[in-house]
Amino acid sequence: MKLLEALNWRYAVKQFSEDIIPDTVIADLIRATSLTPSCYGLQPYQIIQVNDRSVREKLLAHAWGQDKVLECSHLLVFAVSTAGIESIVDRYLRQQAHINDEPINALEDFRAYLIRTLGGKSNPQVIEWAHRQAYIALGNLLTSAAVSGIDTCPMEGIDPVGFDQVLGLQSLDLTTSVACTLGYRNTEDMQAHKPKVRFANSDFLREV
Ligand SMILES: Cc1cc2nc3c(=O)[nH]c(=O)nc-3n(C[C@H](O)[C@H](O)[C@H](O)COP(=O)(O)O)c2cc1C
Repeated sequence: MKLLEALNWRYAVKQFSEDIIPDTVIADLIRATSLTPSCYGLQPYQIIQVNDRSVREKLLAHAWGQDKVLECSHLLVFAVSTAGIESIVDRYLRQQAHINDEPINALEDFRAYLIRTLGGKSNPQVIEWAHRQAYIALGNLLTSAAVSGIDTCPMEGIDPVGFDQVLGLQSLDLTTSVACTLGYRNTEDMQAHKPKVRFANSDFLREV
């Protein structure tokens, strides 16, 4: 699908069909999401793919009764690092050294620069900053899915504390940011036929 066609086609699905997205398509969408730009490339987030139905049932109790967490083909939870900026930077630099096949100590000056630039943030501020990065990745996932003909519903209507508990995120130094259900729209989902409510460019864009 062409970009605008895909973005008009997509909507926040309320009711999914029982159809399952093929593994290769999900793998491409995860890869597309991982290609999202982030501040200094640090990617302070991960995605939890919840396959286990019993886990999804537990999550339903923390999803404002939105049973699409059960009915969707795939449930992805974006989780951000709570480990602090040094840990986020070091995780990234290890990967950079690996990808570029260079010793980690060649990146010491860059490390010092990053810590100097970002180290002034308190840990709650780092987490807030990480959430903003995760939302860019969420947007990229939604668009990538739309152009691939895959339906989604981003979900902020969840209790992150409950999600953290069910998914055991605290022990992984992660905390829930936002969820995204993926699958195929149910033909009975009336939401699919509602017109898009968006501001016209003339009310959305201010030129100076
Ligand atoms: C961050 C975010 C969180 C959202 N959370 C929910 C949610 O919990 N449940 C839901 O049904 N829709 C949710 N939505 C969908 C929005 O309500 C929807 O995108 C908006 O009304 C525009 O409609 P459209 O996406 O169908 O064009 C969320 C959207 C975003 C971007």
